[in-house]
Amino acid sequence: MSIGWFPGHMASARKQAAQTLAKVDVVVEVIDARLPGASSNPMIDALRRHRQRPCLKVLNKADLADPQATEAWVRALTESAARGDKVEAVALSCRKPGDVARVARLAHALAPHRDSALKPLRVMVMGIPNVGKSTLINALAKRRIAKVGDEPAVTKSQQRIDISDRLVLFDTPGLLWPLIEHPSDGLMLAASHAVGVNAYIDEEVATALGEILLERYPALLARRYGLAPDALRSLDGPALIDAIAQRRGYVLKGALPDRGKAALALLDDYRSGALGRISLETPASRAQMRAAAAAAADEPAAADEPAATDEPAATRTGLRRARATGPRTGEDDDRG
Ligand code: G4P
Repeated sequence: MSIGWFPGHMASARKQAAQTLAKVDVVVEVIDARLPGASSNPMIDALRRHRQRPCLKVLNKADLADPQATEAWVRALTESAARGDKVEAVALSCRKPGDVARVARLAHALAPHRDSALKPLRVMVMGIPNVGKSTLINALAKRRIAKVGDEPAVTKSQQRIDISDRLVLFDTPGLLWPLIEHPSDGLMLAASHAVGVNAYIDEEVATALGEILLERYPALLARRYGLAPDALRSLDGPALIDAIAQRRGYVLKGALPDRGKAALALLDDYRSGALGRISLETPASRAQMRAAAAAAADEPAAADEPAATDEPAATRTGLRRARATGPRTGEDDDRG
């Protein structure tokens, strides 16, 4: 299954982001610690490298992610930076005030020459929807500036925010849409609520999530749903959804399992952290997935590089072109 995602105004978002980038010293790229690869938009790296802007990669929602996987990601992201490319990575939770203070400190360290009222540090916060950009901005500003919401695409208008006389933030057009190059990225993004609910079917996304959880976190599934670890070993994604329906008593007329309700329960439990701390990918699993995709396409695996074109990802990857299935249908005109 592929996510019906059409990255609407990608070209104009890119143009606006490039214009704002010209005015800033440091890019703070917010990504989701549970899926750092899938929640990165390679366009951000391309734009900032072009302008030689240092970058702080914030792996946010680390409170929900598997600490071991997160540690591996922080290492991999810092190490993979090209020579001369100033990149720092940090895992944290923007919901924790102490963590947020680290963001300001680390950003200042990337451009130490900008640290006075005369030359305040100018930071642009970038990232795909729902990774926590607004939460970070509000926490830095210590007031509610950007609207926080668990539905993608809440931040809309461009903002310049004076945090202090030493720090200025730019919000959107830091908002860029996910670039879904691999179907598995679409599924991970949907499971993590980074694409709008109209772009996917809960049951299919929950089934794919179930496959990952059965492989990597069977103990968490057993604990949450009271399933015997031995029984879990014989399950696949669809059977897991059935088992959850059965355990929870989600039954339709005719004693059929209510798979829709069970799928939503699994998605909610993952999203809220009720299942436990989970990462959907590791640097190793991502490298493996990319190598497999490249082999299938009969071409060498490339580094995570932006496409050299503004052609929508949907066209290049053969994903279903589905207009108006992006985040918040009806708000398309505000994108980018
Ligand atoms: P965005 O601007 O990038 O689109 O994301 P936004 O800040 O709106 O955050 C999206 C959701 O993620 C919000 O959930 C927010 O509270 C949550 N979030 C942000 N940072 C963290 C974090 O570090 N850890 C966890 N666990 N969640 C985080 P929401 O349910 O709409 O938020 P709420 O207002 O009900 O709390």
